[in-house]
Amino acid sequence: MEILQPCCFSPLLFSMMCMFMVSVYSVDPHSEALLSLKSVLIDHSSSLSDWFIPTNPKLNNSGEFIYACSWKGVSCNFNSTSVIGLDLSMMNLAGVLSGKQFKLFSDLVEFNISHNSFSGNIPVALFSLTNLRSLDISRNNFSGHFPDGISNLKKLIVLDAFSNSFSGPLPVDV
Ligand SMILES: *[C@@H]1O[C@H](CO)[C@@H](O)[C@H](O)[C@H]1NC(C)=O
Ligand SMILES: *[C@@H]1O[C@H](CO)[C@@H](O)[C@H](O)[C@H]1NC(C)=O
Ligand SMILES: *[C@@H]1O[C@H](CO)[C@@H](O)[C@H](O)[C@H]1NC(C)=O
Ligand SMILES: *[C@@H]1O[C@H](CO)[C@@H](O)[C@H](O)[C@H]1NC(C)=O
Repeated sequence: MEILQPCCFSPLLFSMMCMFMVSVYSVDPHSEALLSLKSVLIDHSSSLSDWFIPTNPKLNNSGEFIYACSWKGVSCNFNSTSVIGLDLSMMNLAGVLSGKQFKLFSDLVEFNISHNSFSGNIPVALFSLTNLRSLDISRNNFSGHFPDGISNLKKLIVLDAFSNSFSGPLPVDV
């Protein structure tokens, strides 16, 4: 077992940690999840530069309202309590989507990440967004097999997966 040496416990580091904790924990889970998503994306054009929590935010810290509702590409319901649209299309974004941030976004109706350079597999977690009516993942560089599970999206009206690099047959439920 490792013992923390007192020498490592610098006051500066400690106050930085505190600032970090305040800025993270004063915000609602949806905004945190979007910041976590941003942290794994490659954002060559700084398209997501307004995705941040100000260091001295005038936040109502109850966590009831979603701070991220004012961010580019994020649409919410009228009282900012749920995220209903994410439009990250044409933002010159790249990276692999793990999907681990998606589970909070079950109210999402529209999800558009078209015209970017996302790669890797399509995250299966997409198929737990059961309120989706429109899903556009076209014009990316997704590869691998198109995963099963799209039939979970019972409300889906529009699906655009055009121009990716999928291999193998599309699942029968597409
Ligand atoms: C926070 O929101 C609650 C509920 O809407 C409201 O009653 C309260 O006055 C707000 N507090 C601040 C500091 O704005
Ligand atoms: C926000 O609106 C929803 C309905 O869309 C309602 O159920 C919820 O109670 C409202 N929340 C607040 C804090 O006003
Ligand atoms: C997604 O965004 C692109 C570019 O903004 C737009 O052309 C396309 O129609 C959108 N897809 C859907 C399904 O709305
Ligand atoms: C797309 O992905 C394939 C591998 O899946 C890779 O060989 C290719 O270079 C990628 N293309 C772009 C434009 O990123």
